[in-house]
Amino acid sequence: MGECETTSLLERVAPVCPANGADYSAPTLIGRNLASFIKSGVHHLLEEMKGTSEFSKQDLAMRDFQMEDYDQVIEMWCTCGLPFRPNGRDSRERINEELGRPTALFLVAEFQGEIVGTLFGTTDGRKGWINRLAVRPELRRKGVAKMMIESMEARFEALGLEVFSCLIEDHSDSSMRLFEKIGYKDDPGVRYYSKRSKDGS
Ligand SMILES: CC(C)(COP(=O)(O)OP(=O)(O)OC[C@H]1O[C@@H](n2cnc3c(N)ncnc32)[C@H](O)[C@@H]1OP(=O)(O)O)[C@@H](O)C(=O)NCCC(=O)NCCS
Repeated sequence: MGECETTSLLERVAPVCPANGADYSAPTLIGRNLASFIKSGVHHLLEEMKGTSEFSKQDLAMRDFQMEDYDQVIEMWCTCGLPFRPNGRDSRERINEELGRPTALFLVAEFQGEIVGTLFGTTDGRKGWINRLAVRPELRRKGVAKMMIESMEARFEALGLEVFSCLIEDHSDSSMRLFEKIGYKDDPGVRYYSKRSKDGS
């Protein structure tokens, strides 16, 4: 990897994290993850992807998230600008706890051993919910999210669920386009209300 590419990766990772998680210290995050991020061959990944218009199912491995993936996934959410709550429900402890519940179906997409996408599915007994959908910026528009959603839908169906849902912030144009493309219908009459318990972060 050339110096410029390294620098631009650094720039891409660094500024986003402090804004997202006041108490997930950037030095810790960057120190712990960036070295492995670079070492782990992201440049190789990018080289591989140059000129590839779309993944096929064989290129991507869909597998369950393991706790050992935590750092890599948090780094990826930072890079993707996905908000996360490092001291709340996205903390290592809370995710570990959540994975122990039958309602959690946390999927990652891997390309050549690198995590390139995440989708945290949850069920409430009636519906399957799509949360934490993110794809590495370099690998977007190659069908990764679509494949991950299809994979999650199959899991929901296997649990007897027939309705799949996703909450999308109204500025997230790419997400809206994506869900519309794959057959999800917007429900303009619905407003999202939520209530948090004392420590419900
Ligand atoms: C939204 C996101 C997950 C899409 O991932 P992706 O792998 O690029 O999506 P796909 O390649 O599977 O897209 C499938 C289709 O969705 C639509 N689509 C996806 N991104 C789009 C965009 N930016 N603009 C317009 N259409 C888009 C297209 O119709 C696309 O098919 P096409 O490329 O053949 O035209 C990705 O942009 C992302 O991680 N964004 C940041 C995090 C985020 O917003 N997450 C969603 C929270 S609900």
